[in-house]
Amino acid sequence: MKLELRGITKRFPGVVANDNVNLTLNTGEVLSLIGENGAGKSTLMSVLYGMYKPDEGDILLDGSPKVFTSPADAIAAGIGMVHQHFMLVPVFTVAENVVLGVEPTGALGKLHIDEARRMVREISDKYSLDLDPDAVIEDLPVGVQQRVEIVKVLLRDAKVVVFDEPTAVLTPSEIIEFFEIVKTLVSAGRGVVFITHKLKEALNIADRIAVLRRGKVVGEVDPKTATESQIAEMMVGRPVQLIVNKNSASAGDVVLKVTDLTVLDADGRKHVENVSFEVRAGEIVGVAGVQGNGQTELVEALTGLRKATGGTITLDGKDLTHSNPRERHQMGMAHIPEDRQRQGLVGGLSVAENLVLTRYHDDQFSHGVVVDWDAANAIADTLISEYDIRTPSKETGVGTLSGGNQQKVIVARELSRDLRLTIAAQPTRGVDVGSIEYIHSRIVKERDAGTAVLIVSTELEEVMALSDRLLVMYRGRVVAELDPKKSTPMEVGLYMAGSRPDSAVNA
Ligand SMILES: Nc1ncnc2c1ncn2[C@@H]1O[C@H](COP(=O)(O)OP(=O)(O)O)[C@@H](O)[C@H]1O
Ligand SMILES: [Mg+2]
Repeated sequence: MKLELRGITKRFPGVVANDNVNLTLNTGEVLSLIGENGAGKSTLMSVLYGMYKPDEGDILLDGSPKVFTSPADAIAAGIGMVHQHFMLVPVFTVAENVVLGVEPTGALGKLHIDEARRMVREISDKYSLDLDPDAVIEDLPVGVQQRVEIVKVLLRDAKVVVFDEPTAVLTPSEIIEFFEIVKTLVSAGRGVVFITHKLKEALNIADRIAVLRRGKVVGEVDPKTATESQIAEMMVGRPVQLIVNKNSASAGDVVLKVTDLTVLDADGRKHVENVSFEVRAGEIVGVAGVQGNGQTELVEALTGLRKATGGTITLDGKDLTHSNPRERHQMGMAHIPEDRQRQGLVGGLSVAENLVLTRYHDDQFSHGVVVDWDAANAIADTLISEYDIRTPSKETGVGTLSGGNQQKVIVARELSRDLRLTIAAQPTRGVDVGSIEYIHSRIVKERDAGTAVLIVSTELEEVMALSDRLLVMYRGRVVAELDPKKSTPMEVGLYMAGSRPDSAVNA
């Protein structure tokens, strides 16, 4: 089946998410749609999947125009979508989930479980998915859960399968397995749209790469001849430095010392278990791991946003296990939070206000309880220019800035004072390639100024490139400490998945 998008335009209030987009997908090929956060990739696929009505333009299947008013229409026409967040019932088996996925045959009708089992086996064999119909979803690794979603799509006989950022939740070896499945799908005559913001992945799997910038297709490239820097430049609109530039660290005294840290939640679930490590002045320690293995809770405990259930945390030898976030801030701890919207910024306040948000208590800004706005405004002007924050003015509401510029506001605020320790969680999540380059260079500069730096990131490539030492977290524990210069992503990936590289078994 040949799919054509012709002149698709989709507007939201104040933004043209898709601007006269033309794309073609032929049978048996992988089209990678690449673009920065906010470029319009998901919107375009939502138009294709019948979730949004385009303001202009047509969808054609084998040359004839189609109008989809709901996902059901798109599915009936042979379009399948695997969302980033799976829609599976954790306590049900694979077969039970598959049956739910193709319901209803009658009002909550009988689950034809034997039939579902048979179909799962058949599809699994045909596409080498290696799925056990009787396995319970919650026992399966994320990569295998994703294959259940693929089965659901194939059961409805999709001719075109759209994957929206499918690799974000996978380990390196799961990504390789996923690419094998994609190859099987296209050799069986399906068309695949693979959405990503990762250059290497697009180059690896795509037959063609279409680059989207600010809602427009700015060009198509051939992965056989294109380079990463060429595509990055198309995505951003200017040349981009893709490699983290740094010299080896000269680590000094221990700044952060974490001993047997354990974090339980209100239900008694263990998120962090007996974690111990140190971060020295002038070094970057990275924490790698698949999302959801306790990294979030670790950072929250270190920054005082969550109670440590056991163990101790010291900063320059002072115990701060039970001090509040403000006390930690005053001891020279900076926090670049994972969730910008909820923890990092106050959306209703201006850029200037956000730039001084955590400093209301610093002497420089307050006389008793009164904030010195002249001083605050002067600092805001300096930071906006120093950190290249693109904003119409410092009075602009911070919520209207792009993700990359919002993140720069946080980085500017957190790094522009004398620090002992910087904790950065997912520092470039949702940030455009251009701003990533800048944020990385600021973090390295901070290290070189003698600050201890802890980076937590689920982007393996990022955390390996930035760190001088690398810890791997799996199910709440630190399962490995590695030298990133002497390790490969595959090795680190094995620890991330809970196994150990063969070479380490007897070590
Ligand atoms: N439902 C919506 N309402 C308003 N604006 C939206 C909506 N969905 C997306 N946008 C905006 O459209 C643009 C494209 O977003 P999106 O398609 O999600 O980009 P991508 O998937 O490439 O990151 C962004 O500016 C985003 O803020
Ligand atoms: Mg998206």
